[in-house]
Amino acid sequence: MVIKCVCSDILFSEMKKIADKHSISNPDKLREYVTFGVNCKLCLPYVEKMLKTGETEFEPVIE
Ligand code: FES
Repeated sequence: MVIKCVCSDILFSEMKKIADKHSISNPDKLREYVTFGVNCKLCLPYVEKMLKTGETEFEPVIE
């Protein structure tokens, strides 16, 4: 399962807590509070999905 931004070592569940606390619904806004997606960017689709669905664990998507 994919559960975090590996590059920044931050769990989606931690990001979600921050997003909920500040009523954040888009990744750019979330970036003001926490660092993620600055290296390989593979986590970005998952972060977007997390913000939409509230899920914090994902099956890997191969594109
Ligand atoms: S996993 Fe998030 S930037 Fe690489």
